[in-house]
Amino acid sequence: MLERLAPQSPDALLALIKLYAADERTDKIDLGVGVYRTGQGDTPVFASIKAAEQRLVDTQETKAYLGPEGDMGFVNALMPYIFGSDATMGGRIQGMQTPGGTGAVRLAMALAQKAGVKRLHMGRPSWPNHAQILADIDFEMVPFDHARSDGTADLEALLSVIRSAGEGEGVLLHACCHNPTGIDYSDTDWDAIADALAESGVFPIIDCAYQGLGHGMEEDAYGLRRVLAAVPEALIAYSCDKNFGLYRDRVGALYAMASTPDGLDAIFSNANALARAAWSMPPDHGGSAVRIVLRDAELTASWLDELTQMRDRMRQVRATLAAAGKAGSVDLVPLGGQNGLFSIVPVTPDQVKQLREEHAIYMAGSGRINIAGLHMGNIEKFIDAVAAVTG
Ligand code: LMR
Repeated sequence: MLERLAPQSPDALLALIKLYAADERTDKIDLGVGVYRTGQGDTPVFASIKAAEQRLVDTQETKAYLGPEGDMGFVNALMPYIFGSDATMGGRIQGMQTPGGTGAVRLAMALAQKAGVKRLHMGRPSWPNHAQILADIDFEMVPFDHARSDGTADLEALLSVIRSAGEGEGVLLHACCHNPTGIDYSDTDWDAIADALAESGVFPIIDCAYQGLGHGMEEDAYGLRRVLAAVPEALIAYSCDKNFGLYRDRVGALYAMASTPDGLDAIFSNANALARAAWSMPPDHGGSAVRIVLRDAELTASWLDELTQMRDRMRQVRATLAAAGKAGSVDLVPLGGQNGLFSIVPVTPDQVKQLREEHAIYMAGSGRINIAGLHMGNIEKFIDAVAAVTG
């Protein structure tokens, strides 16, 4: 039987981790998978998380099962950060814990499909796993172009998709720090998107994986909150993997906003059943650590401080790239106005290969770079290498 399985190529992003590790050149640069790095190239555990983990080890008395919804203390503690002061929108929002943002995205897509959403419109490029999950659950995806060639968001493309789609169709939106382009909608763009969604009845799924890495926790939530204020229902996939640095601990949550508080029970009975059949229960450790941080004022302040440092450093890298102007045929200026961990450098797949083989620079085949892989010690080498392969 198993011989019938056709070999699949490994996920291109995750394959880069191994390729990079095997490269013995000492001046190699990892701009592949999305993990934050300090100016020294490290990805340390947040100090607030370390302290919370210690407290967890000292005080946790059982590891008995919690249930498919996971740690509701964690899920609820995040809500004011995501949804603002009226964190439940009058009792209409509820959540559950998931294994990472990926688990939340998968659950959101499966739930939307089960609820009768026929197809999902999705701006491209997008995080490759979005399309992979949709294909895996046989959910029709309709792509449209997300960005313009000048490095800004194509608002009109999205608005026309929303206006011409109808009820029974959905749209996937990135809340902030768009992966892979770094190209976000402005606040006035979000106002128009929210109005268009309210008029059309198109169902929004919002992927929020990078809150705090763009302009700030509040600022990065503007679009999401604006949409939720305008529409009756939505699903939100949330990740703490980046903004708490918990990548491998897989810490995420799915939130649903129902048109009335009474609608939440049916939604979550379905979400729990889907989770039970897929992973049964989410891993607990990272979610517990986040809960401990968010229930302690001092640890919360330390976490927010560290997040600010990360954001500021990435802004500095972006400003340095933009100040370089052009590298060969590549205009680096738009990268200065983009947000979060990622931007796309317009290089061909052959040039990506050349950068890897000749310059030990690792990036996704799409030309996506992890901004946090650059620092003052390697940014010149990167700019020179891009100039060399594209000049
Ligand atoms: C990325 O896009 O690099 C991250 O979100 C990691 C992943 O799971 O792909």
